[in-house]
Amino acid sequence: AHQWRGVIREYADRLPVTEATRVITLGEGGTPLVHAQQLSALTGSEVYLKVEGMNPTGSFKDRGMTMAMTAAVQAGAKAVVCASTGNTSASAAAYATTAGLTCAVLVPEGKIAMGKLSQAIAHGATLLQVDGNFDDCLEIARKLAEAYPVFLVNSVNPARIEGQKTAAFEIVDALGDAPDVHVLPVGNAGNISAYWKGYKEYAGESSYGEGAEARTLPAVSTKLPVMWGFQAEGAAPFVAGHPITHPETIATAIRIGNPASWETAVAARDESGGLIDAVSDEQILAAHRWLSAKEAVFVEPGSAASVAGLLKMHAAGKVPAGQRIVCTVTGHGLKDPQWALRTESGEQVEPVKVANDVVSVAGVLGLEP
Ligand code: F0G
Repeated sequence: AHQWRGVIREYADRLPVTEATRVITLGEGGTPLVHAQQLSALTGSEVYLKVEGMNPTGSFKDRGMTMAMTAAVQAGAKAVVCASTGNTSASAAAYATTAGLTCAVLVPEGKIAMGKLSQAIAHGATLLQVDGNFDDCLEIARKLAEAYPVFLVNSVNPARIEGQKTAAFEIVDALGDAPDVHVLPVGNAGNISAYWKGYKEYAGESSYGEGAEARTLPAVSTKLPVMWGFQAEGAAPFVAGHPITHPETIATAIRIGNPASWETAVAARDESGGLIDAVSDEQILAAHRWLSAKEAVFVEPGSAASVAGLLKMHAAGKVPAGQRIVCTVTGHGLKDPQWALRTESGEQVEPVKVANDVVSVAGVLGLEP
């Protein structure tokens, strides 16, 4: 009776589905909202982490993919396609398998993390490495879906945004109201757009469905958060104010120069009185280490951009004390674990070797009987 049923069933009244919809789900959503003790102590605020790495395929993409794949099945599709920096491909591959559809994914050659590549292949997707970046992959995927019988499951598909907005609902449901500030990484900009949609729908009376299915639901929250988005410095088109032709960052998840959800992300930033700023790869890796070592939350580098941004704002004296702040950490650390095995100065960490006896182990640990 207490089993979480996935975001579509949990939030069916606020999503474009009906009783008759065949729901494609792996039980996504319902992720932990973890109180970040050290970030709270540092900032003098109440900081939480929305740990999206706890989704079935290890990233927030599953929230959108349950909706996109449900829509694909409803449309009678036999095959789906997406472009990806890795997580979308892992999610699409898994959900296509559940739905019984074939799946093709286009990824930038050499620029996706091993964990994500493994997932796409394990779930039986046809994985094509394109000699180009994510933006090139997305252009091909869009053209493919326009001209050929294949269903596009990138976030340019509005079903994806509908699914992803449920993360905002969960946060309000957990906290009892919207936070003061919401911080998240920005890449293709679907997620910041989705959160803002979710927060707005929860803050006012909202109407859903059509005809006999039409319904109006009351407001759940009393306010809206300020949205803070952070890009990687070498892939920061919103900061530049125009697309970036050759985006570069170690955070391959957000190595994107021409975000598809440009207008909606700018609207989220401006309507909320927020900002979209950039953090360096060094700041991203420092936040990655902070999360692992101080908050016990293991994320992939791209995910750490939110916390890197919060730390940057704090260092600049721009985090007002006493606020309620939620940072989304978007993907699991096991997706791209190599970064944990590097010291701050970039050296490889070598595990300590020890002889096969208790005295040697005690000696290495500095223990006395
Ligand atoms: N964090 C992670 C771990 C991601 O994988 C992505 C996007 C983002 C943040 C940025 O989210 O695009 O909605 O602004 N990954 C996409 C992919 C592009 O293909 O997996 P966004």
